[in-house]
Amino acid sequence: MINGKTRIYGLIGNPVEHTISPMIHNNLSSILGHNLVYVPFHVEAGTLQKAIEGAYALNIVGINVTVPYKSDVIGMLKDIEPLAKQIGAVNTLARVEGGYKGYNTDMPGLYRAMQSDGVHIENASVLILGAGGVARAVTMLMASKSAREIIICNRTLEKASEIAKEVNAYIGNELVKVLPLSDYKKLQNKKYLTIQATSVGLHPNDEEVIIDVPDFYSYVEVGYDMICNPADTKFMQMVRQAGGQAYNGLKMLLYQGIIAYEIWNETIVAEEQAIQIYQLMKSEMGL
Ligand code: ATR
Repeated sequence: MINGKTRIYGLIGNPVEHTISPMIHNNLSSILGHNLVYVPFHVEAGTLQKAIEGAYALNIVGINVTVPYKSDVIGMLKDIEPLAKQIGAVNTLARVEGGYKGYNTDMPGLYRAMQSDGVHIENASVLILGAGGVARAVTMLMASKSAREIIICNRTLEKASEIAKEVNAYIGNELVKVLPLSDYKKLQNKKYLTIQATSVGLHPNDEEVIIDVPDFYSYVEVGYDMICNPADTKFMQMVRQAGGQAYNGLKMLLYQGIIAYEIWNETIVAEEQAIQIYQLMKSEMGL
């Protein structure tokens, strides 16, 4: 029931038409009995600053930010949480005096998804496929959660090296190493927690996979694909065929929303409530 006390939240991006975030937040608020509504805002290129100022003027309490504005928005904030600053991407804004404070809940979201799946980063040998913005954030997360070793495997080695250099400088050792994608046979003969952080295999290119050689998957103990559409990517199928466990990006999407909700509403969402939303997400997506 919307009334005079309803608080407004939303998502800024372009496009936003296929977002599942309103479903997450509006169901959470109804489960938790909060008087709020969450809506998508399609923001045209070149109008981000106006959108942020307008949102503040309209007393919008919290905003999620998605592609292509996660980095651009940083220059428009009143304050930024250190993790988001280090990652260089903000996906959550919380209203403070005079503007918004930026957070990154994507990586804490991935961490909570892994905890929920019983997957441990601490002491793990981690392989990251890709060296774009997502891979950079994932490398930061893995380094900050005490992985034993991290190898970034990318088609363009220089891009992997840039991330490795930056993260190694941040943590003060040489934890992160790099390898050209085509050289995966140089990996040591062991099993890795593998994160697929490229857009290869994203719908409508469901038949594509970053490494289309079954051999490679013998190195994968647990494979996380950051993609949620399709829900079962070819990468995940190849991981399972080689005997590994495979997960998609859906739980990360769930928990990035839950963490944003917790920041905005100064509350903690119980695991059973999270799972309730997860089931709703899956049925909404026809899974
Ligand atoms: P994002 O910021 O979402 O991570 P991005 O910056 O476009 O996206 O990064 C995409 C990553 O996927 C890159 O590491 C890219 O490899 P290159 O650095 O060599 O460009 C990788 N990628 C995309 N398509 C690929 C393909 N067909 N084969 C191998 N790697 C691919």
